[in-house]
Amino acid sequence: MSRWVRRAYWQGSQVRDVNRSTHLMHILHSLDIIENSQTYMELAVPHDQYPRVRFAQTPTPLELMPNISKLLGGPNLYVKRDDLTGLAFGGNKVRQLEYYFGDMMKKGADTVITTGATQSNHARVTAAMACKLGLKCEVQHESRVPDRDDAYYKSGNVLLLKLMGVRLHQFPVGEDEHGADAALEVIADRVRSEGGKPYVIHLAPTHPPLGALGYVDMIGELLDQAREQDVQIDAIVTPSGSASTHGGILVGLRSRESDIPVYGICIRRSADAQEERVLDRSQAAAGLIQQRDLIVKDDVNVDDGYLGPGYGLPDEKLMEALQLAAAQEALIVDPVYSGKALAGLIGLVRQGLFRKDQNVVFVHTGGTPALFAYTGIF
Ligand SMILES: Cc1ncc(COP(=O)(O)O)c(C=O)c1O
Repeated sequence: MSRWVRRAYWQGSQVRDVNRSTHLMHILHSLDIIENSQTYMELAVPHDQYPRVRFAQTPTPLELMPNISKLLGGPNLYVKRDDLTGLAFGGNKVRQLEYYFGDMMKKGADTVITTGATQSNHARVTAAMACKLGLKCEVQHESRVPDRDDAYYKSGNVLLLKLMGVRLHQFPVGEDEHGADAALEVIADRVRSEGGKPYVIHLAPTHPPLGALGYVDMIGELLDQAREQDVQIDAIVTPSGSASTHGGILVGLRSRESDIPVYGICIRRSADAQEERVLDRSQAAAGLIQQRDLIVKDDVNVDDGYLGPGYGLPDEKLMEALQLAAAQEALIVDPVYSGKALAGLIGLVRQGLFRKDQNVVFVHTGGTPALFAYTGIF
C-alpha cells in the first residue's frame, strides 16, 4: 500500500496503528477514500490530536437559490449542500462521525453502538461507516415521535439500517438523553461479555462534542468557497438539534476571526433550552481546540418559531418549505431538520431580518431519506 493511500485514508498520527492492522490494510486496498486538499483549513482542527476517518465528499457545493431568492424579494439566498456529503445519502452526520470513527479506530474497537430517534440520520451514517470499515453496529431506537404510521417504522432510515445489517434495540422513552445513554452501556456490557470491543457514541451533552469538529472544518471550506465566488456572507442559517452543527459553525467562524451571525432554527427544544445547549456545546467544542472562551452568549441566536407541534411533527410552515424548495429549486429537504430550518430561513426573510442586498447561507444538513417515512403527510 502506498504512503499516499494511507494518508488519503487516515489523517493524523495514527497511521502507524493502521499499519499494524491487517484487517484495516485490506479495507484500505478496497476503498478509494480521497483526502481533499484544503486551503483555509490551516486554521482548522489539529488532526494529530483528533484523528478522523475521511468519508465526506468535500467540498460540498455552495449554490445560489435564484428562484426562492426572487420569489421572496431578496436577500440572495445560498445553500451549502451538505446533503451531498456522499456516504449512504450523506448529510451533516458524515462530517461529524468522521471524528468519532477516528477516535474509535485509535481505540481499536470492533463494534459501534449508538442511539437516536426511529428515523435517526445519525444512526444511518454510523451504520454506513461501520459497514465500510467492516465493523459491527448496534442501534437503539428511542420512541421520540408519537402517533406515526407504518411508513415511519419501516421506511426511510429504518429500511436503510436493515439493509446495512444493523442489530436494532428499542428504548421506550423519547426525551431522556441520560437514560438512553445508560441503556447503551448495557448493550456495551453484553458486547464485551461476548468478547467484542464496543465503542459507544453517546448523545447526551455530558460527553465531548467531537462531531462539532466536523463543522469547524466545514466553515474553513465555506469561507474558501465564498472567497472564490466573490460572495460576502452576511448570515448563516442552520438547524439546531444536539447543537454539534450549530456549535461547530460558531467555533469555525470565531476561531477564524469571522463575526458572521449564525441563526439556529430549533428542531427539538424550546428557544430557552436550546440557547443554553448551544452555548454549552459550542464552548465545549471550543475547549477541544484550546479556545474555551471563544464563544459568548451573544453569539447564540436561536428561534423556536418553526418547531411546530414538536420534534419530528409537521406543521404548515414545514409543508410550505418542503414544497417551495422542491418546486422552485429542485432542492429536497427533510421533514424533521432541514425542512424546518428552511421554514425558519423563509420566516426570517419575511420578518425583514436581512437587507435585500445581503447574502445568506442556508446549511442543508440532509436527512432526505426520512422523507419516505413521512409519505402520510402529503
Ligand atoms: C439531517 C439533520 N440535520 C440537522 C441535524 C441537527 O444537527 P445537530 O444534531 O448537530 O444539531 C440532524 C441531527 O440529527 C440531522 O439528522
